[in-house]
Amino acid sequence: MAISRQQVPQPVVLDLNTIVKQMQSLFHGVLNPDIEIRSVLGRGLGAIRADPTQVEQVLMNLVINARDAMPGGGKIAVETANVEVDPSQQQLPLCLTPGPYVRLIVSDTGTGIAPEIQAHLFEPFFSTKPAGMGTGLGLSTIFSIVKQMGGAIDVSTKQGKGTVFKVYFPRCPEDLLAGPPRATMTVTGGTETILLVEDTAPLRQLTREMLRSQGYNVLDAGDPDEALRVARECAGPLPLLITDLLLPGYSGSLLAQRLAPIHPEAKVLYTSGYCDNSTSHPGVRGKDYEFLQKPFSRDDLLRAVRTLLEPPRLPARRPSRPVPAPAATPASLA
Ligand SMILES: Nc1ncnc2c1ncn2[C@@H]1O[C@H](COP(=O)(O)OP(=O)(O)OP(=O)(O)O)[C@@H](O)[C@H]1O
Ligand SMILES: [Mg+2]
Repeated sequence: MAISRQQVPQPVVLDLNTIVKQMQSLFHGVLNPDIEIRSVLGRGLGAIRADPTQVEQVLMNLVINARDAMPGGGKIAVETANVEVDPSQQQLPLCLTPGPYVRLIVSDTGTGIAPEIQAHLFEPFFSTKPAGMGTGLGLSTIFSIVKQMGGAIDVSTKQGKGTVFKVYFPRCPEDLLAGPPRATMTVTGGTETILLVEDTAPLRQLTREMLRSQGYNVLDAGDPDEALRVARECAGPLPLLITDLLLPGYSGSLLAQRLAPIHPEAKVLYTSGYCDNSTSHPGVRGKDYEFLQKPFSRDDLLRAVRTLLEPPRLPARRPSRPVPAPAATPASLA
């Protein structure tokens, strides 16, 4: 999707270790307890210049692939380190310009990858997963993100033993570092109930965990009929519906219309990877909605949710300080 929407990256100077740490709770949310994940974060790690959303995407795609390669459980390791690529290291199967890099490794103890599959790994839409479980865009997206940044990705694997993905991000020259490396902006969560409708199961699970990790009560459904059933059973207020615009059966906008009589308080956050904005989609109307383009980061999602749940306040009707009694107005001005 990053490829198809020709996403314009917004690079900032950032610390990869901070991103790995911030994503821990999301990892735990998408991994079953039979998968152990540990991080080994390099000390004195140099900064990289990258779009934080894209770095999160790289990391999450690799962790989810590792998870899917271990249906019976196993171990994932996420490691970061400074590395120097010097001209003598040209045995690397990568066309890296010699110089300083920050290396991210995501390794697993899963199935490994058969040689005939390895040849297609980075091709868009190549997937060995059942329909609905994988779009085959994970690795091709990572490839284009990393390539765009002047980095590279390398894979080594042994069938039945596991797989190691190494991602090389160019390290920032020291003189580019103005102040401490920045990470993603902080955003707040909440405790409201949200109905999440998304037909791609892994994406639904990930989005649900992003919201739950911030305190939200999330009800979810994979199609519009199931969503309406869940909504009817929800006795309390349901202030927000998050729905994909394209769903099996009928569209997200029709779902929103059908939800309105059941939960008139519900505002709507539409998501889609296929069009630039919701106004181009038939049926999307009203003022209590926002639109979020896929792929989105955790921060994009949380920001859009808070914007809908807490619209910008109108100026208070009553001033906070007591207003002095009006001075006697000259009759000529009254
Ligand atoms: N860690 C891994 N272990 C074993 N096989 C892997 C691993 N990572 C990727 N693969 C193989 O590479 C294929 C392509 O991966 P990719 O991430 O591009 O797509 P996907 O995971 O199938 O779908 P998506 O990421 O779009 O949900 C996978 O279907 C799988 O066969
Ligand atoms: Mg994948």
